[in-house]
This record gives sequence, structure tokens and C-alpha cells, in this order.
Amino acid sequence: MRLILQNIKELVQVDPKRRLWVAGKSMSEVQTIKNAFLIVKDEQISDFGPMEKLSQSDFEADDLLMEIDCSGKMVFPSYCDSHTHLVYAASRENEFTDRNKGLTYEEIAQNGGGILNSARHLHEMLEDALFNQAMVRLEEIAMMGTGAVEIKSGYGLTTESELKMLRVIHRMKQHSPLMIKSTFLAHAFPMEFRNKRKEYMNMLVNEMLPLIAADELADYVDVFCDRGFFTIKETERILLAGGKLGMKGKVHANELANSGGVQVGVKCNALSADHLEHIEDEEIAALMDSETMPTVLPGAAFFLNLKLAPVRKMIEAGLPVALASDYNPGSSPSGNMNFIQSLGCLKYGMTPEETIHATTINSAYAMGISESYGSIARGKVANLFITKEISSYAVIPYSFGSNLIETVILNGEIQ
Ligand code: NIG
Ligand code: FE
Repeated sequence: MRLILQNIKELVQVDPKRRLWVAGKSMSEVQTIKNAFLIVKDEQISDFGPMEKLSQSDFEADDLLMEIDCSGKMVFPSYCDSHTHLVYAASRENEFTDRNKGLTYEEIAQNGGGILNSARHLHEMLEDALFNQAMVRLEEIAMMGTGAVEIKSGYGLTTESELKMLRVIHRMKQHSPLMIKSTFLAHAFPMEFRNKRKEYMNMLVNEMLPLIAADELADYVDVFCDRGFFTIKETERILLAGGKLGMKGKVHANELANSGGVQVGVKCNALSADHLEHIEDEEIAALMDSETMPTVLPGAAFFLNLKLAPVRKMIEAGLPVALASDYNPGSSPSGNMNFIQSLGCLKYGMTPEETIHATTINSAYAMGISESYGSIARGKVANLFITKEISSYAVIPYSFGSNLIETVILNGEIQ
């Protein structure tokens, strides 16, 4: 089956150089082709270019052909959302209301709410129900332009419930057209282990991780390294143990305080360090010499009213920056990457071009897939979206809250 997209007003995020990430000043330039075509064959982008280069022979091959006229519309590579917790059992709007009355996110967590609240609900829910709910969320984000997503465990906390969450994610990989990466997340100490941290750590490292690895249930391992959660030492122990079992690390770092999470992530060669609200020159310097993608989660900062990560300073220092949704019931109950772009521009002073790199190629790197996703290049997987008729690509972050996506193509198939 071949799909020919014709008369594309602008084909955005073309990258013949196939960069694996884009950093610093280069983030302000996005390559596009105006009045373009793009050909999809067997799940992949097989060719693209200006309309005048589309030849009659492209229509004459003997496989099944479908043509789409994209006059007035733009085509983008799908978003890669490199940080979500979208498998969960229940929403947490009562905590949202409590925060409006003056309680803080950390106070709610200390009193058994927050992650522990999600863990209680998850424990009670059957695997099938969790799967069905999460599949609806996947369909929802696909229609908003996301074509690849990382999903974390971390609402299980016990071995049994963590395995349950990871099995759900594994099943989602088999049933969804989205590219999915799964991450085991050491998220919080259960109440009964608050004074027995060492015991919980031993269980996590000696029981949970080996079982997860034995069934190949996680691609990555992540730790919430922050005030009131995991310490630097605990984080390092978990990342090293995961590494030995073949799982590359990621960190939730510096969201609530300057936790040292960034440095320990870099030291363990983590794929990404995420959140980054509380970072200073030392953290920026550590990230500069690393392979770790700095990932900012504007949805969580917006929803929890947090201090903002110094994105301008990071980009000006020469770092790449990725943006992800952090879709979860406690700190970012939305997986709308269009809105994440809007927040990038409105709250962090990013240009539309910078948000395009941050939500495509850089976030693809943060989930270990930028060789095959995140830009328009020959041979990359055909995960694309076609917009409605729009005047320029800046209209996407400008139109906050809207969905300007008309057609979604995943693995070369129209959804
Ligand atoms: O990335 N910060 C830690 N974990 C999640 C939210 C957890 C929750 O509140 O459910 C996050 O924001
Ligand atoms: Fe998170």
C-alpha cells in the first residue's frame, strides 16, 4: 500500500541529516518544504520533496495507491511524548480542590494522598479495567497528534501491583498503533515502609527489578529523586541495579527542591532528566557534558503552580530541551502535546520552532527512539499528522486549547 500526500502547504520538521537531537541555537531553526509531497510505503516515509519533483512514475507502481490532497494544510511528524503515567485507576480532582483551598501538593502527599492515593485505587482495580481505561487515553492522545509515548509504572508500589501495571503497558504495546516504551518507576515509599526504607529498597532491587527484567516488562527504569521521596544514594542504587539488568535510567529530578537528582542521573548515564524546576548553573554544567536529555514538563508546573524550569538559560547554554506532557492524575491530567507547545511559548519564552524540536526529535531521543521517529526523513516510521487548513505552524501553539489536527497517520495507516 502506498499513500501519496500532495499539495502540502508546508511539510514541517524535515531533517535529511537525521540528527538524533537538536541543541542550543539550532533549536530555533526548523527545516520545512513549502508546496510539498510525501510518499508513505510499507509503514515508512519513502520519499518527499517539492511538488514539482513528484513524477508520474510515482503513481504507476502496481501496489494499491491512495492519494490525499493536503491543500492549505500542513504535515508534521507525530509528537513523541517521552514522559507519562497514563495507566491509572482514578482521577484525583478532590486533591485538586484541596489545593485550591490552600493545601500544597507535598502536604497532600505526606498525609497519604497523592501517589499513595493512586496506588490504593490501582491495587483494587482489575487488570482488564486498567487496560481498557488506559487504551481510551491512548486513543485520545493519538487524535491530538501523539504517535509515540513512554508510559511509567509507579502507582503499584508493591511487587504484585507494579507487575500488574507493567503487564498492562505490555498489552497496550501489542494492541495500540502507537509506539510505546515502558518504564518501571520507583515512585514513593509506601506508608508501611516509611520507617523501613532499607527494607523497601532491598525488595525493590532484589525482588521487583529482577522479576521485571525476567519478563522483559520494562525498557527503562526511573526514580523520583526529590525532597520527601528517594534520596540521591537510593536513586543511584536503583539506577545501577536497573542498568545491570539492561534497563537504561531516567530520573524525575529537581521538581520540588534542588535534589541532586540531575547529577546522579548524569552520573548513571540516564537517558533523560525530567521536571528540572529547581536547577542552577551546576546542574546545567552537568547536563552539558552528558548524554542525558533535559526534559521539561510544562503541564505539571502549570497545574501545580510550580516555579518554572529555566528553559531559556538552558537553550542559551547550548543544551537541547525536550518537552513532555507528564500525563497523570495528580500533577498533569492532560496528554495534549499541542497545549504543551502553547505552554512552552507562553510560559517559558520558547519560539514555536524550539517547541517543535522539543516535542518531536528531542523527546524521541528522551525515549530512545530518535533514529526512527521524531522528524521527516526517508526510512523513518510514517507517524504523521495532517492539520486543518492553517496559516502558519505558529498557529498551533498560538491556538491554546484547540486541536487543529485533522488526520492522523500511524505506521503509514490513516487512523
Ligand atoms: O511526574 N513527580 C512525580 N510523579 C508524577 C506525579 C505523581 C502523582 O502526583 O501522581 C509527576 O509529576
Ligand atoms: Fe512524572
